[in-house]
Amino acid sequence: MAFDPINDCPTNAPTNDAPTLNQLADRFRRFAQQECCDSSPLYDQLSRMVAQDNDLLAIAGCAQAGQPAANLFFAAVQFLLFQNPDDSLARHFPSLSTFATSRDDLSTDFRNFCFSRKDDLKDLLRTKLVQTNEVRRSACLLPVLQMIYEETNGQPLYLIDIGASAGLNLLFDRYHFDYGQDQTFGDSESPVQIYCQSRGRALPLSATFPQVASRVAIDLNPLDVHKQDDVLWLKALIWPEHDERRKLLDAAVLVAKHYPIRHVQGDGVALLPALLNEALPDTRLCIIHSFTINQMAPQAVQNFQNAMRQFSKRRSLYCVAISCKDGASSNLGLSCYQNGAESKNILAKCSDHGTWIEWL
Ligand SMILES: C[S@@+](CC[C@H](N)C(=O)[O-])C[C@H]1O[C@@H](n2cnc3c(N)ncnc32)[C@H](O)[C@@H]1O
Repeated sequence: MAFDPINDCPTNAPTNDAPTLNQLADRFRRFAQQECCDSSPLYDQLSRMVAQDNDLLAIAGCAQAGQPAANLFFAAVQFLLFQNPDDSLARHFPSLSTFATSRDDLSTDFRNFCFSRKDDLKDLLRTKLVQTNEVRRSACLLPVLQMIYEETNGQPLYLIDIGASAGLNLLFDRYHFDYGQDQTFGDSESPVQIYCQSRGRALPLSATFPQVASRVAIDLNPLDVHKQDDVLWLKALIWPEHDERRKLLDAAVLVAKHYPIRHVQGDGVALLPALLNEALPDTRLCIIHSFTINQMAPQAVQNFQNAMRQFSKRRSLYCVAISCKDGASSNLGLSCYQNGAESKNILAKCSDHGTWIEWL
């Protein structure tokens, strides 16, 4: 399978070759058409503009190989804008201005901003990664984690999140969930109130949260909720119009400051065997990954699956995955690895950001 470095979906394999300006222009155009059109009028307009501007494309070309260039470019711009909220570009960003509307001077303000901070922008593009930590995906993970917990007669879960970013989804049992249709779950007083519309069949929710023995968050670059810059980067990754997601992130960061989890820096595939070996006995091993494998090269995905198969010859384990299916929805899958073999089920479809789930 191949991967698209523009968005989170599989289409073109990540490559170490720097894209040409024409290729980058295509990526920005597709980003506008496929991702922004219904979701961010501002990025839609800006992406089309960048696609026609070789000077801006040359800056965007500084993104690390394999990274979604348009996502990263706009996150870097918004990050700098959060630090310079008095710049005239801020008037166009709903994340910074209550009265932001589409204006004729958007193009001028955008170009001026990007060129006056060209060096900072390039630095960010060379060093940062697309690490959007979408807390609402917890609403999709919860029913599956409960299923595993029940199937294993209440053995506490040993959770390892590969590509965890700040690890916010590992704290799912501190959140409150409303799935509509009178299905609510968790602490109604939690600062993190997640609404995820359940479509179709009722979700197989049980009475309590699963017990968790351990939470390990692995990332190439773990983000730390105690570091202002990391939190600002997480915010900058959220598109300007998505105010509700920013509020949810703020609330989850607040919770995470009180419930520290174990963070491990490095390549999740390479580190996995050692981390699995460390897992406590009498726990149920459960690997989670959401929107991570789309950032891995095909061989790395293969190695990841082989590592789980190999380990399961000694001890069985589960893997819960949210992965991009197409532009319209994602798959929520559960694999059980036992005696070196994998059995996999797609349990639900869900939206990329966990705004809805459809149990199959
Ligand atoms: C789009 S974010 C998703 C974050 C989180 N799983 C969520 O759903 O909110 C993908 C994360 O995977 C991480 N990542 C990508 N490849 C990785 C690898 N080989 N090992 C560890 N982390 C990786 C990135 O650094 C990034 O933080």
